Amino acid sequence: MRKLRSQEWLGKKGKDGFIYRAWLKNQGVPEDEFDGKPVIGICNTWSELTPCNGHFRELAESVKKGILQAGGFPVEFPVMSLGETIVKPTAMLFRNLMSMDVEESIRANPLDGVVLLCGCDKTTPASVMGAASVGLPTIVVSGGTMLTGRYRGKNIATSDVWRYADEVIKGTFTNEEFREVEGAMCRSDGHCAVMGTASTMACMVESLGLSLPGNAAIPAADSRRKVIAQLSGRRIVDMVHEELDIGKILTREAFENAIVVNAAIGGSTNFVLHLLAIAGRMEVPLTLDDFDNLGSPIPLLANLQPSGKYYMEDFYYAGGLPAVIKQLQGKLHGHVITANGKSIHENVAKAVSYNEDVIATNDKPFQEASGLVVVRGNLAERGCIIKPSAASPHLMKHKGKAVVFEDIEDYRSRFNDPELDIEETSVLVLKNVGPKGYPGMPEVGNMALPKKMQDKGVTDMVRISDGRMSGTAFGTVFLHTAPESADGGVLALVQNGDLIEVDVEKKFIHLHVDDEELESRRKNWSAPDLGFDRGYVAHYIKHVQQADLGADLDFLTGKSGHVVKRNSH
Ligand code: FES
Repeated sequence: MRKLRSQEWLGKKGKDGFIYRAWLKNQGVPEDEFDGKPVIGICNTWSELTPCNGHFRELAESVKKGILQAGGFPVEFPVMSLGETIVKPTAMLFRNLMSMDVEESIRANPLDGVVLLCGCDKTTPASVMGAASVGLPTIVVSGGTMLTGRYRGKNIATSDVWRYADEVIKGTFTNEEFREVEGAMCRSDGHCAVMGTASTMACMVESLGLSLPGNAAIPAADSRRKVIAQLSGRRIVDMVHEELDIGKILTREAFENAIVVNAAIGGSTNFVLHLLAIAGRMEVPLTLDDFDNLGSPIPLLANLQPSGKYYMEDFYYAGGLPAVIKQLQGKLHGHVITANGKSIHENVAKAVSYNEDVIATNDKPFQEASGLVVVRGNLAERGCIIKPSAASPHLMKHKGKAVVFEDIEDYRSRFNDPELDIEETSVLVLKNVGPKGYPGMPEVGNMALPKKMQDKGVTDMVRISDGRMSGTAFGTVFLHTAPESADGGVLALVQNGDLIEVDVEKKFIHLHVDDEELESRRKNWSAPDLGFDRGYVAHYIKHVQQADLGADLDFLTGKSGHVVKRNSH
C-alpha cells in the first residue's frame, strides 16, 4: 500500500507533528487513532437551508460507524450547500463555487479518502466535480428521496407542483387547496420523490460506479439508507488500502455507461450539464453529441414521473437502478470497475425487476427510444437539447411564429396579458436566461403557458430558451441553447413573428430569417448590462463556459491533484 497522505501531517515528528495531533486531540481523540489509520473525510452538505439534505448529520453518524468498523479515522467537515428551492437567484450560479470549496477543503486537509454526502440537485455534481479535481479514493452516499406525497388519497410529488399551479391559473384549484398540498407533498426527510435532477444525480453516481450498488433509490426514511451509509463508510477504508482512486473509476467508459443508464431512466436534462462538467474535471473527452449518439437509441425502461407514472419509492421497491442496469447489459461497458471493487456487470448479476409496470424489460420498454436529443441549426449553432419523453409527440415537428420575451422579467410581466399576440401554434422564445445572461442559467425554460392558451385547452407549446428546466418539469421544451443570447447567439436576434421550425427526428432547429437580415439585427445588438461588477458573480460571468461545455468555469476544468504544493509548517 502506498504511504498514507495523512501521515504527512499526523505522522510527523517535532513541533509540526505536535501541532497537527495536539489540536485534534481536543476533540477526545486517543493516541492510537494516529497510528497509520486511513483518515477519511466525510464531506457533508448538511444545511437547514438545504432541506433535502437536512438529515445528513444523522446519516454522517452511520458513515462514521462504518469507517471505524473498518479501521479508519473519520473526520466530518462542512462545505457550502445549495438548497434548490431556496437559493436565489438560482443554485446553479453557485455550483462551481461549491465545487471549489469541496476541492480545496479536501486537498488542504490530511485526508486519504472521501465520502461525499449529497442529496439536493447541485450538491451531488458540485461535490463530485471538486473531488474529481483532487483525485483521492471517493465514494458517494446519496441522501435518498422523500416518501411519496399523499394528498386526499392521491400520490403526489414535485412534478405535481406545475400541474396544480396551472390549475390555480385556470381557476380549477383554489389557493387554499394549493397551500394544503405543501405539507402533504414534503412529508419526510429526503429529496424530490420523482426522477428529477436529484434522483438523476443519484443514478448518475451509481451508474458511474461512484457509489455502492443500490444507493440511488433507497428512500431517506428507509432504514436501509443508513445501512448503505454504514457500508459505504466501511468500503472507503478498503478503497484507500486498494488505492482505488476516483480516476480509476471515472473513465470514458464509465461516462458512456452513465449516459446509457440516464436515457433508460428518463433522467433530467440537467444531467447533460453536470456530466459534461465532471468529465471536464477528469479531462475525459465528452461532447454533447455523445449524449445523443449513445442515449437516443436506448429504450425508456423506467416509468417514472415526470415522464411517466410512478415515484422514486416505487422505483426502489421495483428493484431500483440495478434492475435497470441489468436490462441494459450488452449496451454497457460491463467490465468497468466500481466503488465496491467489482464490475458494474457483477453488481447487477442478481438484480430483478419486481414490477414490470415500473421497470420494464428490454424487449417490452415503455418507449423504443429515449434519451436526450441534441438539436442544431442557425438558432443553436452549438446545439440545444430536448427530452422527448417529457415532450408532446405532435410538437416534435413543428413550425410556428415566435412570441419573444427578452428576459424572465419581461415574460412574467406579459405572459398573462390578455392582449398578448399568441396562438396555439406559436413558439415561445425566452432570451437571456443562459449561464451568463441571467446569470446562472435558472430553471425557467419550461415557461408556464399563458392563461389564454390554457383557457383554450392547450396543454403544451414549443418553448425555446438558453435556460434550463427543472428535472421535475415537462413539455416540448428546447433548452441550453448555445451560444446563449447574452453571448451573442442567434437567439438574441429573434423577433416577434419570426418563423421558427423544429424537427426533433431530423435534429434540426431553424430560424427562417435570412443571413443578411440577421447581420443587420446583429449590428443593433449589444450584450445586456447585468450590473454585476464585483465578487464571485462578476468573476463567474467572465469565466463561465457555455452549456455545451457543462457551464463550468474555464479555469476549473482539469485537476490539480492531491499534492499540497507549498507548506508553511
Ligand atoms: Fe432538493 Fe428537489 S428541491 S431535490
